[in-house]
Amino acid sequence: MSTTEAPRVDGARLWESLQRYGRIGATPDGGVTRPIFSVGEREARARLVADCHALGLQVRVDAAANVVATRPGAELALPAILLGSHLDSVPNGGRYDGALGVLCALEALRTLVQHDITTRHPVRLISFTGEEATPYGTSTFGSRAVSGRLTDVAANRLPDGRTVREALAACGGDWDRIAEALDELGPVAFFLEAHIEQGRRLEEAGQALAVVSAVCGIYRQRVAFAGEAGHAGTVAMGERRDALRAAARFVLAVGELPGTVAAADPAATATVGYLEVAPNSPNVIPGAVTAVTDLRSGDPAMLAALVAGAASAAADAGAREGVRVSVGTVLDQAPVVFDRGVRLALAAAVREVGGDGRELSSGAGHDAVHLGAVAPAGMLFVRCAGGVSHNPAESITPEDAALAADALLRTILTLDA
Ligand code: GLV
Ligand code: MN
Ligand code: MN
Repeated sequence: MSTTEAPRVDGARLWESLQRYGRIGATPDGGVTRPIFSVGEREARARLVADCHALGLQVRVDAAANVVATRPGAELALPAILLGSHLDSVPNGGRYDGALGVLCALEALRTLVQHDITTRHPVRLISFTGEEATPYGTSTFGSRAVSGRLTDVAANRLPDGRTVREALAACGGDWDRIAEALDELGPVAFFLEAHIEQGRRLEEAGQALAVVSAVCGIYRQRVAFAGEAGHAGTVAMGERRDALRAAARFVLAVGELPGTVAAADPAATATVGYLEVAPNSPNVIPGAVTAVTDLRSGDPAMLAALVAGAASAAADAGAREGVRVSVGTVLDQAPVVFDRGVRLALAAAVREVGGDGRELSSGAGHDAVHLGAVAPAGMLFVRCAGGVSHNPAESITPEDAALAADALLRTILTLDA
């Protein structure tokens, strides 16, 4: 079918789905808390399995607990066109980060079924387990598994005491078969992911959609400060080895790194978003602190400068406070440029639904980064109000969501032809 005759998706149906999934793990301020392996994430995946069954798709849960649902194509030998994103969220996150991509994929499939359009390729939806980072070492869990990139996190413990292996099993996955997740997925022709922009550039440009050109590299370090706990009222100020004072110096220094060592990349970022303080008591000098850094740049040299800068800032902070420091790598993810052919197909689809087909780079990580190692991959960005994300106030319009699903459907049809 030529894409000029492609049907439009049902925007009201898509919006209703977005709101329905947004009530799973809902927080009082309008956001969602659905971390990997939580009750909310499990409920969301169960809802998706039911929705896919209701649509007559072939549904299964793979070894990484990814939900995979397929509509067969007319030509049995062809690889699948794969679409999706994630249904987990950060703690007290928004309703659309991840869910938009899964539900746009579902809406595209619903539209194909409703209009009785047979594609040549199978069209396969995937909802990846646990895209968001956790302090215990998982991030992009499901998409790493299907691209053969998951490191051994089986014995890592969740805050509730379960191991990753146990929590995965409770969601229908199986760590002992995790290496099979890539083969289980089957051959993939293309991967497409729609996602909120999580920035303000589309809003400022008055555009609903953009094609994602590239995703920045991300590096995370676990930095341990080991001082000495003691009585807050009796140890003299000059005799302390306060791990939190060292960590505080470190947090401030990390924030300065993009403006100094990586100044050539205005999009470079450096954050300490996680701290563990022990014993964390008002009248005890902090004896030990663990910090996790998140360093990002699209330029590998700038990213390396941030990594080296953070390690040296940690050593300096420790030396100033008489605290021992050790630094370990949690994540080392190189920048990725998306496939040119997929980008062109997405841009043409965006223009067909009224956009200018512009490209934007991403400062957020995405499952599509890993799928790019499996097949030509591409992403669509959707305007979100004020660029607010990882926040309950995350917001998009029904019209923009429908345009994203329309562009996704048109891209499927183009790539299928
Ligand atoms: C995902 O949201 C990330 O960029 O950390
Ligand atoms: Mn996110
Ligand atoms: Mn996301």
